[in-house]
This record gives sequence, C-alpha cells and structure tokens, in this order.
Amino acid sequence: MTILVTGGAGFIGSHATVELLENGYKVVVVDNLSNSQKASIDRIKEMTGKDFAFHQVDLLDSQALDDIFSKYDFSAVMHFAGYKAVGQSVEMPLSYYHNNISGTLTLCEMMLKHNVQKLVFSSSATVYGLPERVPIEESFSLSATNPYGRTKLMIEEILRDLALSNPSIRIAILRYFNPIGAHPSGKLGEDPRGIPNNLIPYITQVAIGKQPELKIFGGDYETNDGTGVRDYIHVMDLVKGHIKALEYLEKHEGVETFNLGTGTGYSVLEIVNSFNDVTGKQIPYQITDRRPGDIGVCYANPEKAKKLLGWQAEKSLKEMCRDSWNWQVQNPDGFTQ
Ligand code: UFG
Repeated sequence: MTILVTGGAGFIGSHATVELLENGYKVVVVDNLSNSQKASIDRIKEMTGKDFAFHQVDLLDSQALDDIFSKYDFSAVMHFAGYKAVGQSVEMPLSYYHNNISGTLTLCEMMLKHNVQKLVFSSSATVYGLPERVPIEESFSLSATNPYGRTKLMIEEILRDLALSNPSIRIAILRYFNPIGAHPSGKLGEDPRGIPNNLIPYITQVAIGKQPELKIFGGDYETNDGTGVRDYIHVMDLVKGHIKALEYLEKHEGVETFNLGTGTGYSVLEIVNSFNDVTGKQIPYQITDRRPGDIGVCYANPEKAKKLLGWQAEKSLKEMCRDSWNWQVQNPDGFTQ
C-alpha cells in the first residue's frame, strides 16, 4: 500500500513517514519545503534504511499534483501540509486561507479525479476555541479565535461535506493537542525557523543558551500554579495514532473525528520543572502578561480514540522532555548543520 504524505518533511509528517515505513507501507512525500528542510527526508532514509520518492511540490500546483497522482497508485493520503503559526495567521490571513484551504481543495480534487478514497487529516484542538469545559470531547461546539484555527475548522467542514456528497470517501480527522518530543534517536525533531513561538522549542533554546530566558505568558490563570495547562503528547505516540486511523479507514466508511491527546494536562511551570530535571539545568524564566488569544486550560478526553482506534498515548512527560532535549543537543542548529 502506497501512502501519499503531504508535508512529510515537517515535524509531524516526518515522524509519520518513519512510522509508515516501519509498518511496511510504501510512502511518497510531497512538500514545498516552505517551512521544512530536505535534510529531514535524507535523515528518514538513513534511519529506516528505506528509500521512497520525494517531490518538492506545492499543493497549489494542481498540474504537478495531477502528475504525481498519475504516476503512483495511492491507497490513502495523510495530509500534514499547511501553515501553522497562530500569530503569523493574524498578520497574513489571506496567505493562510489560500495556502491551507486552497491546498486542501486541490488535494481533494486530485483524490476524486484519481479515485483515492482514504484521507487522514491533521486538525487541531484549536477548533474547540474556548472550550465549554475540560476534558474536551469531540462532540463539543467548535469555533476559532484566529485565521489559522479558522482554516482548520473550515477544512473540517469541507471534508464533512465531501464525505456527505460521496459515500465512498473515508476520512479521519485527527485533532492534535500539543505535540512535542522528537524521535528517540535524536535524528528528527521540530526545527522552527527564527524565534520559536511554541513552548517546548523555546525552552530547549533557553536551555542551550540561544535565548536568554523563558517568558511564561500569564501567572493568573485558574490553575494549580496560575500558569496555562495543556495536553502535551509525544510525537511518536501521535503518529502511531495515524497508523491506527489508517487501519480504521480500511473498515469504515464516512468521516470520523478523533482527539489525539493523553488526557492529562500539565502547567507551564510543571514543564519547566521537568526540563530542569532532564537537562540538569535551571531554566531561567519570568512570568509576564498573558499572551492574547491564549486559553487557560486545554486537555483532551481521548476515550473515543481508545475505543474506536485501539490507540492511547503511552509516553510520559519525562520521555517527551528528554527526547525534545536530545534532539536540541544533537542538532543545535536544527537540520542546517
Ligand atoms: N507559553 C509560554 N511561553 C512561551 C510559549 C508558550 O508561557 O514562550 C505557554 C502558552 O501560554 C501556553 C503553553 O505555553 O500556556 C503552550 O503554548 P504553545 O504556544 O506551545 O501551544 P498552544 O497551546 O498555544 O498552541 C498549540 C499549537 C497551535 C494550536 C493550539 C491549540 O501550537 O497550533 O495548540 O490546539 F492551535
């Protein structure tokens, strides 16, 4: 079975590509490398000892995508490609709508044209907006607070319409909570360009001395220690959920949505303490104002994925921090050495 992986050079897509190859799937990766590096593709080949085709193609290039769909016989698509920075999406909404939504539309058109019926889509817990309560269930009401979140929400709706219009289409929408960690080998990991927006890459850059201190956004949330709580999930657990979703689509029609989280929330200070333990350093930090648009507490109820996919996250917070740190230490400048 050959799987088309869009965004396969990026953080989650690259780990998913490894997991697919190790589970006996054949893989073709398309990625425009706008926010990732070709080196990750080389690393995957080196780590797995397996070869696969890589095409540097933009999903908006429908002719190039058509050629790829003509060349291979895909049994499913895993769609990771997309812009993902919340702040940037507020500054350049049209780019986000164009890239994320039009890219997905082109991809779906090609799937229909070439009779490819299974799709696993990377959504985000951001579609719950300000959740009514925690833990968050898939049936909760949906909303978005920024253009990035709206692209995820709109794509989810587009996919539901597509499945309604075409009963042979099978779609798994996976809502990620906060993916962190890295491949345990230290060969693959998150490689943000410029100053990181997200907590873990920022902390590891502080720990390695590239940033002076962590700014903790808000110490007055209604949480145990006042700092924001999130459901951090190891990227290796996350990508295992994708394999389970693919297996699920073999047997089930229609569209189904799953939370991929651990079900446990940790505060920013708990994360900092865990990094202190793992690195043997004291991460300097300062508590500052809340970041606009942030919510206080967000964690999943992952029971649906457990029940229907037979999947649950297994790795501990310590393993997540250790693997993130291992990646940072082995690759202080990311993939560009
Ligand atoms: N935080 C800090 N300092 C930083 C960065 C983050 O204190 O320098 C805090 C945030 O306030 C939050 C927590 O660390 O409490 C996690 O923040 P991230 O930026 O790592 O992650 P978010 O939960 O804000 O965002 C993530 C994804 C988004 C997605 C969102 C909701 O990055 O793509 O989850 O699913 F939209």
